Amino acid sequence: MFLPEIRAHLAKAIQIVNFRLAYNIDDLRLMAKKRLPRVAYDYLEWGAEDDVTLRENRAVFERIRLKPRNLVDVSGRSQKVDLFGKTFDAPFGIAPTGAAGLYCFEADIELARAAQAANVPFVLSTASFTAMERVAQAAGGTKWFQLYMSKDREPAERLVVRARDAGFEALVVTTDVPVGANREYNRRNGFEIPFHLNLANMIDGALHPRWLVDVFLRTLADSGVPRFQNVDTNTGGRIVSKDLAQFRARRDALDWSDLRWLREIWPHKLLVKGILTAQDAVLAAENGADGIFVSNHGGRQLDGAISPMTVLPEIVDAVGGRIAILLDSGIRRGTDIVKALALGADMVFVGRATLYGAAVAKQAGAEHALTLLKNEVDRVLALLGCRSVADLGPQHLQIPG
Ligand SMILES: Cc1cc2nc3c(=O)[nH]c(=O)nc-3n(C[C@H](O)[C@H](O)[C@H](O)COP(=O)(O)O)c2cc1C
Repeated sequence: MFLPEIRAHLAKAIQIVNFRLAYNIDDLRLMAKKRLPRVAYDYLEWGAEDDVTLRENRAVFERIRLKPRNLVDVSGRSQKVDLFGKTFDAPFGIAPTGAAGLYCFEADIELARAAQAANVPFVLSTASFTAMERVAQAAGGTKWFQLYMSKDREPAERLVVRARDAGFEALVVTTDVPVGANREYNRRNGFEIPFHLNLANMIDGALHPRWLVDVFLRTLADSGVPRFQNVDTNTGGRIVSKDLAQFRARRDALDWSDLRWLREIWPHKLLVKGILTAQDAVLAAENGADGIFVSNHGGRQLDGAISPMTVLPEIVDAVGGRIAILLDSGIRRGTDIVKALALGADMVFVGRATLYGAAVAKQAGAEHALTLLKNEVDRVLALLGCRSVADLGPQHLQIPG
């Protein structure tokens, strides 16, 4: 009589150890949640203030419906896409996520290797716990560098030169952070980088021994207190966040002339991340960008901000065909990816999805997240009657007025 219940409990218990039993991104999220102490999970999962934008990012995808065409030969279908002179095996890549090293040891390398295995682009955050040179040397594949830029050009230029010398192929300038976001859970949890253990976090860490040993203590033993390796300076064990402070200083003074300056000093593809209006998309193009990320930072910056999908048609009208239009925020399913491509995005990116995977099983977990999405995209293309991403268009969508 109790057999089904016992089986359900067993399956739950096994899920803790076997990421292959995650059948979708949300399964991976639940597994990650079990592994992580609250301070780390909250930083990964939540948005800003009341999470209005975070919820809207999901709701907007759910509101759009798909219009399938039948009896189309889709047997030879492919989801490969071309971008910046390269062909990728899937129409999505990995977005930059700072402090990823809180989720697994050297997460940035694990994520970059997962992207390499899937032949999709990986974007390394300025706020990584692993120095960009080490990531560049440890993982092949297509790697772009995301820049948190200061108004002070000296530290900004230092990072740009390092990214160029390390071989990053594109620079992604994040522009939706003139000031830090209001994320109250971080303050409540005592979240700080360089990472501090307060009493509550110590107890929580002890209750998550695998995370404590595999992630926190391993990082501590390898490179000291988890910190931003690209911008902090470690002098004899004492972390000096001088560079970081210099970095954050006057970020609210940035304007389009700073993009023009970057255009002069950066020799490769230049992208602007955080665009949410057609006007800014046009300004990005006029000031030298090769592409934009239409993004609300996964709902983590301005709460109440619109979702990228809402403004995508206007942006495609304004700059489509002129510069690359990439989109992120809220993608959890292959249907989401297909909807964004059908509305005119050239490619999309995921932030949390692959981080859940990395938290559960490092590179293999992140690869699993990418495979889940890839399989879903393949199925959706077939069910819609499309042989390729190029076949997708607004005719496949029903958008509520
Ligand atoms: C834990 C975490 C850290 C992030 N750190 C950065 C960052 O350092 N730089 C940046 O431009 N965006 C950052 N983002 C935003 C992502 O690049 C991306 O825009 C967002 O995660 C996409 O939404 P999604 O998580 O719903 O896929 C971060 C997101 C998360 C979840």
